[in-house]
Amino acid sequence: MTFSEHTKALACAVRAARAAGKLMRQNLNKTKKINSSSAHDIKLDLDVRCQKLIEKILHTGFPRISLLGEEGVAGDPKAPQRWVVDPIDGTVNFTYGIPHACVSIALQIQSRGAAYETVVGVVYDPFCDELWTAIRGQPARLNGQSIHVSQGKSLREAIVSIGFAKSKANLDRTLPYFNKLVRRVRKVRMMGAAALAMTYVASGRFDAYIERGIRLWDIAAGGLIVECAGGEFWHEAVPGQHTYRLVASNGRLRKKLQSIR
Ligand code: IPD
Ligand code: CA
Repeated sequence: MTFSEHTKALACAVRAARAAGKLMRQNLNKTKKINSSSAHDIKLDLDVRCQKLIEKILHTGFPRISLLGEEGVAGDPKAPQRWVVDPIDGTVNFTYGIPHACVSIALQIQSRGAAYETVVGVVYDPFCDELWTAIRGQPARLNGQSIHVSQGKSLREAIVSIGFAKSKANLDRTLPYFNKLVRRVRKVRMMGAAALAMTYVASGRFDAYIERGIRLWDIAAGGLIVECAGGEFWHEAVPGQHTYRLVASNGRLRKKLQSIR
């Protein structure tokens, strides 16, 4: 894909993110149909409706590119080019009418059997009307203005966001770490939308975001945005489909955060 194709893909992803974001805005304070729920998670009918809307717009622009989304796949999810989509990141917030949730869309390319690389990333917060975009090799942008990660080197002054994934095993592993982390940094924040936490790192609002057991659609777009803002998107596959542990940071704090035990 050429740079101009990436630009076209970005514009298409922005259209899709804005359309889904509008649907989210229209429904924030309405009663939502719950398709399924578990101890720490909810799945809404609106998750599916937003993904269908995104799929339609992406498919119209790029009929040959398949899609891997939280709410299912369209085409071959292992094809050399694929969209990776979280139609609503922060579904639990959204269900309760908390206006902190977003749409996340990434375009990934795989060259000759190598790992997938994200080349385009879009994260849209429809409640603050904040749109983060990135094309690999270009500066990350928030509403068109280029952004940069924070410069902080010290844990003592850091704002670190942490996510608690949905399983008991992840909670059991994360809580002891949280107990230590909270004593070492200025503030810990748990805001409930991983993709937004990553864009906050990219914008220098947070110094780092940490989560264990996070899924690809939550982090693909945000990861590129962090990298294009000068930060580090450290992630490692863990057991489970499309599952990772993650430290997205300004690049100066990751080792310090990982050495807290
Ligand atoms: C979840 C949110 C949450 C994070 C979970 C994600 P969802 O995504 O980003 O903050 O801790 O790991 O799965 O279910 O709202 O799309
Ligand atoms: Ca989701």
